[in-house]
Amino acid sequence: MSSILIVNGPNLNLLGERQPEIYGSDRLSDIETLARQRARGHGLEIEFMQSNHEGKLVDAIQAATARHDGIVINPAAYTHTSVALVDALSAAKLPVIEVHLSNIYRREPFRAHSYISKVAQGVICGLGITGYALAIDALAEIFRARMS
Ligand code: DQA
Repeated sequence: MSSILIVNGPNLNLLGERQPEIYGSDRLSDIETLARQRARGHGLEIEFMQSNHEGKLVDAIQAATARHDGIVINPAAYTHTSVALVDALSAAKLPVIEVHLSNIYRREPFRAHSYISKVAQGVICGLGITGYALAIDALAEIFRARMS
């Protein structure tokens, strides 16, 4: 069975309370429930994690190569700062889908640049938690295409 690592960066543990006018009222646990349902529908396994620490995110991405077939990542604020995450994702040699709950292009100018997009197969932003479900759909399609 193919497996996906879903990585969530800093402050996403506060979803639900954190700026609901931007990020919505769903909690990270709601996103995990949605992701698990969607993955099950495709016959995929997932591992779902969140950390506020860049090094822990790097460790999780490094471990993914041996355990998973693709990565969905919402790098949160590290989107705009982290060369370390870009390097880890490049080294992982797995398809990566970058997700943002908010539309980063409609916000402050510093959010419009993503280091991560350079190593992502696709980017989904502005669709709230649906973005995670669509990212899983995209990876499922990539896995299917590989088999055929
Ligand atoms: C975010 C957008 C980032 O700019 C921000 O720092 C976040 C969340 C999003 O999901 O919309 O923490 O990645």
